[in-house]
Amino acid sequence: MKISIIGTGYVGLVTGACFAEIGHSVTCLDIDSTRIRKLNNASIPFYEPGLERILKKSLEKNQIKFTTNYSLACKNPDAIFVCVGTPSYKSGKPNLKFIKNVIKSLALAINSETVIFLKSTVPVGTTASMERLFKKYLKSKLDIAFASNPEFLKEGSAVNDFKSPDRIIVGTKSKKVQEISKNIFHAFNHQRSRILFTSIESSELIKYAANSFLATKISFMNEIARLADSTSANIDDVRKGMGADPRIGSAFLYSGLGYGGSCFPKDIDGLISSFKDKNLHPSILEAVKTVNSSQHKLYLKKIYDAFSKAKLKNMSIHIWGTSFKPETDDIRDSISIKLIRSLSKDVKKIFIYDPIALKNTKNELIDLQNLVFLRDKYTNIKQSNFLILATEWKEFWDPDIKKLQSLKSKTVIDGRNILNRKHLESSGINYLCIAR
Ligand code: UDX
Repeated sequence: MKISIIGTGYVGLVTGACFAEIGHSVTCLDIDSTRIRKLNNASIPFYEPGLERILKKSLEKNQIKFTTNYSLACKNPDAIFVCVGTPSYKSGKPNLKFIKNVIKSLALAINSETVIFLKSTVPVGTTASMERLFKKYLKSKLDIAFASNPEFLKEGSAVNDFKSPDRIIVGTKSKKVQEISKNIFHAFNHQRSRILFTSIESSELIKYAANSFLATKISFMNEIARLADSTSANIDDVRKGMGADPRIGSAFLYSGLGYGGSCFPKDIDGLISSFKDKNLHPSILEAVKTVNSSQHKLYLKKIYDAFSKAKLKNMSIHIWGTSFKPETDDIRDSISIKLIRSLSKDVKKIFIYDPIALKNTKNELIDLQNLVFLRDKYTNIKQSNFLILATEWKEFWDPDIKKLQSLKSKTVIDGRNILNRKHLESSGINYLCIAR
């Protein structure tokens, strides 16, 4: 089928590349001409495992092309997927200006019947209001359908998530759009039907509710970890004991520094603002947010309890991991970045290492003077007093104990509860964590 994708960010690019790989003829549009030029040479602006390989293959086969030209993207597509960002206003409300610009541009360029799927995360009612906006600008009497198709891609495994979806949610009541959707997703829906058709509004809300529920699991465990930490309960055992109940499930129960990234914080804020718009009070969501925004402070407190502010002023420290989670170079709303900002005021120097997010980290923290970025995680470790492990990259799980023993204060703060406490402590290392 002929598919156009508007927006070549994370979601648009993964969607376009995966559709092209299964044989759809894909045109991806973005208004950023530099990005489009690079994409035509298979150069991807972010790190996502597996994406470059399928993009190169599809470019070679002429299965995918990149353009800034709306007329080209609107040349008889069977479907158009809108995948532009919905960043938050300060109030938490999603800013829909990029979507509105896309809708106007599409209305002016479309000259054949098609379906417009909104993949961007948008508050309930947005797809309907975008359809109204579209009709205002459309000059012809063409029958253009609107549908909602939220994404559930995890950074770091987005390609696999797209190809083996848990579910494909399509918000539409139109039988015709349902048939088109089945054809588009056929290759990903073959073994077992993953498509769930709902109303447009339910589809929009499913996305917010799913992400907010996952964030709730994390904040719930982080709250329980606070109590466990002040008793002798072990949060690892509590997690396993809880997760063994299939009604609870074992995923997303890991306590630590809290959640970050481009989705959870933004989606919780977006959902809270939707509640407020309807004069409803989002009690649980607000608690989830409060727990998460204070979680890293518990670790800071442990550091201030262990080292006085006066001593910290003369100390250098190591931080391992700056991406908001492993397998991505994304540092948006990363808790590690928050920690670095906070600690840089109090310590002499911070040595920072991340396997792939250093470039983004340097750009983000350009205003801080006392940071040193490392190519190897052990460089200068003898000059540091302690180490904070902030992101659970696989290469941090089994560190070289001898090297950690050379930390001046022999202290390791494990922000993700992944290190072997017994092993570290029996090697003379002071191990700080929460609730283990
Ligand atoms: C999320 C959703 O999982 C995905 O379905 C959606 O479409 C986009 O948002 P992503 O932002 O890539 O994906 O991150 P995810 O893997 O969900 O992790 C989010 C954050 O939660 C990370 O900071 C992670 O470290 C943290 N987390 C996750 C925990 O603190 N504990 C856990 O048990 C799980």
